[in-house]
Amino acid sequence: MIKVGIVGGTGYTGVELLRILAVHPEAEVVCITSRSEAGMPVADMYPNLRGHVDLAFSEPDASVLAGCDLVFFATPHGVAMRMVPELMAAGVRVVDLSADFRLKDLDTWADWYGMAHESAEWAGKAVYGLPEVARAAIRDAQLVANPGCYPTAVQLGFLPLLEQGLVNPARLIADAKSGASGAGRQGKIGMLHGEIGESFKAYGASGHRHLPEIRQGLSAAAGKGVGVTFVPHLVPMIRGIEATLYAELVDVADFDRLQSLYEARYENEPFVDVMPFGSHPETRSVRGANHCRMALHRQENSNIVIVSSVIDNLVKGAAGQAVQNMNIMFGLDERLGLSAPALLP
Ligand SMILES: NC(=O)c1ccc[n+]([C@@H]2O[C@H](COP(=O)([O-])OP(=O)(O)OC[C@H]3O[C@@H](n4cnc5c(N)ncnc54)[C@H](OP(=O)(O)O)[C@@H]3O)[C@@H](O)[C@H]2O)c1
Repeated sequence: MIKVGIVGGTGYTGVELLRILAVHPEAEVVCITSRSEAGMPVADMYPNLRGHVDLAFSEPDASVLAGCDLVFFATPHGVAMRMVPELMAAGVRVVDLSADFRLKDLDTWADWYGMAHESAEWAGKAVYGLPEVARAAIRDAQLVANPGCYPTAVQLGFLPLLEQGLVNPARLIADAKSGASGAGRQGKIGMLHGEIGESFKAYGASGHRHLPEIRQGLSAAAGKGVGVTFVPHLVPMIRGIEATLYAELVDVADFDRLQSLYEARYENEPFVDVMPFGSHPETRSVRGANHCRMALHRQENSNIVIVSSVIDNLVKGAAGQAVQNMNIMFGLDERLGLSAPALLP
């Protein structure tokens, strides 16, 4: 059994980790932290876990976490980078769901996150945990930077086009929409039901923290710098991301082979589903599941490829992908604990 610790257990990604790990046959959660709720039984806060999780929240304590085989950080940015070096020294493996170790350029990280990075050594050594790109490196990693939610949906949708050099990398557009759980569980007026219900808006159109992460991943896929316009939107639902992606095909004759190219690229990926050409994946088709579903479109004789990509932000966009990474790191079947289909309706 893998002994697992979770730092940041009261948040939405923390409780999603607990839900998935509660039925994982090879992992046992031995420690789950919260500073504000220390002492409270987990099931008192999250009644869906009654009968599944007997633990109470505890204060984060490095000496306790050092006794784990793997620690998930489900904390705001700035927390993991301060605690990880001590855990690394103790030989613990870590999957960080925050943004602390995702960017390789630490000046860019400091600009977007408003603080200096405090663990340059481990930012350099961390493996960016998108299994569809870096499975071999994840297997051997001590520290995995779990990708952001929007960056997962956007990168998976664009990857085959950029890896094959089929589109103009300077003109990529990602128009993405997320449910409210993407903002976490802290009380904020702007996230009240009365503020977001029956409404729909863009935010961060002048620049969002996921933009440099998307740019970094897509540039690696293209083998050169990319130009990407990314605009997120908030929709009045709880879970889910839909990203509508646009790219200019260099040679329109390539349209005929795009569907088979996508199917071949993701043929052996257990959590990526390429749907029939011209179909419309729905967020509810991945709700609670670790899948990314996508479909390709072309409007009349245009040279624009349209890709619609959907994930559950808390699962393939966070906790599910983190458990997928844990499975890879420990040499387990990647699908363990992640095979339940989505909830529908
Ligand atoms: N929500 C999503 O869809 C999503 C998707 C992908 C990635 N992420 C990332 O995952 C991380 C967690 O997101 P979330 O939505 O679960 O956040 P959240 O709901 O705001 O929860 C944050 C958790 O971290 C704990 N925490 C806060 N400050 C801490 C500190 N200084 N030391 C130790 N624990 C601390 C909080 O508990 P206490 O304050 O009681 O200790 C709480 O349990 C964030 O970095 C987020 O960007 C979120």
